[in-house]
Amino acid sequence: MKFYEGCTTLITGASAGLGAEFARQLAPHVQALVLVARRVDRLEVLRDELQGLHPQLTVYIYGADVGNEDQRLGLASWLDAGNLKVDFLINNAGFGDRGAFEDSDWEKVRGMIDVNITALTHLIHVLLPSMTEGGRAAILNVSSVASFFPLPNMAVYGATKAYVTSLSEALAMELRPRGITVTALCPGPVPTEFFTVAARAGDEDSVAHYQSMPAFVVTAQQAVRAGLEAVIHDRARVIPGPLLAIAVGVALLVPFCLTREILRTFRSKL
Ligand SMILES: NC(=O)c1ccc[n+]([C@@H]2O[C@H](COP(=O)([O-])OP(=O)(O)OC[C@H]3O[C@@H](n4cnc5c(N)ncnc54)[C@H](OP(=O)(O)O)[C@@H]3O)[C@@H](O)[C@H]2O)c1
Repeated sequence: MKFYEGCTTLITGASAGLGAEFARQLAPHVQALVLVARRVDRLEVLRDELQGLHPQLTVYIYGADVGNEDQRLGLASWLDAGNLKVDFLINNAGFGDRGAFEDSDWEKVRGMIDVNITALTHLIHVLLPSMTEGGRAAILNVSSVASFFPLPNMAVYGATKAYVTSLSEALAMELRPRGITVTALCPGPVPTEFFTVAARAGDEDSVAHYQSMPAFVVTAQQAVRAGLEAVIHDRARVIPGPLLAIAVGVALLVPFCLTREILRTFRSKL
């Protein structure tokens, strides 16, 4: 973790789940953390916890809906005004929507695209010029194993994550000569608030759903550790959990016409 010494790290979606865990694992190493989310009360509690444990660390909190362009620009201006140069950006904020596309609520679908795709892309675009000033820098985009296959019943979510993995891979190639690494973290199921947020009214199966795949579940601690290690080793993508990584590797070798049939057959279980 020496790699992270002296870094100023901005984490979106730091009020819960993987985002809060990134903050906890980085806190002993980095110089400063900038924690962003809508629930400022939670960010305050996390800031107090981390500063109590690590007196050398500076923790800034910023309340914003990253799905809103004005609020993203407000965040960028606030960073500028405070002369805060981010050299490690963790685009973690995101959410899903579980259920048939035809029954989906448009506001939730649009919000998901705004956060999972537009905010992630815009924050990279806005912060990149200052990231390239100081030499080495890193971007970690939290994608999903859902990015590798179409996902019936989470169709838009899977598509947003396919975008994230593809963008990350392409930017990793573009930015490497400038000393900036880009990594896509592609977890399978992780017990966080994700499944509660993804559930629609009356969907009581959402949380039980990931529990039905125990072999592929990793903890938030394991997923975050895998992501931070992948950044250190300049890996363009990482799937936490050896069993899931092997399963995805094998599944990607299967001809897509067969994958499509399997997904069609098991779509009600996804
Ligand atoms: N858990 C899984 O099984 C899993 C698997 C693969 C990938 N992922 C990905 O991992 C990432 C983190 O999810 P998680 O599992 O930690 O879920 P989580 O516990 O629900 O946390 C999601 C975080 O995103 C933030 N967020 C959501 N919408 C936001 C917005 N409009 N503006 C600012 N922040 C927003 C939330 O903060 P506020 O509500 O306070 O704003 C929260 O801090 C997501 O990108 C998710 O797609 C999760």
